[in-house]
Amino acid sequence: PAVPIKLSVNGKEHALEVEPRVTLLDALRERLGLTGTKKGCDLGQCGACTVLVDERRVNSCLTLAVMQQGKRITTIEGLAKGDALHPMQAAFVEHDGFQCGYCTPGQIMSAVGFTREPWGKTDADIREGMCGNICRCGAYPNIVAAIRDARG
Ligand code: FES
Repeated sequence: PAVPIKLSVNGKEHALEVEPRVTLLDALRERLGLTGTKKGCDLGQCGACTVLVDERRVNSCLTLAVMQQGKRITTIEGLAKGDALHPMQAAFVEHDGFQCGYCTPGQIMSAVGFTREPWGKTDADIREGMCGNICRCGAYPNIVAAIRDARG
């Protein structure tokens, strides 16, 4: 049976009822209409569903919505401030860090989390730190360039 929960997403509180087995990904997409977060594998292998939970990157397909109460969830929809793109979004645009774009929200959310983690400064560090985000188009060189630029 569904249980009442409260989720804080992009600074807004949402009260909803979900079955305990519903993933955070499905709650975001199907209950809150936040379809920027993508479902690729639904198995924790592709990174398309990456969001930030309390500023740390999380595969939203691997966690349950009921477990995320009281935490601050940020999705791709919450990154820009008004008309101003987040610097990581702007860098992806500038460097063409995508082709089809399906993996891009997850890539960008993961990249924002990555820049807050204690990685080194080399491209190899970026590649290793971003290895959980798969791009079927193979836009990796431009994705690395965007992240290198955005994190300074
Ligand atoms: Fe979550 Fe692929 S949809 S990792």
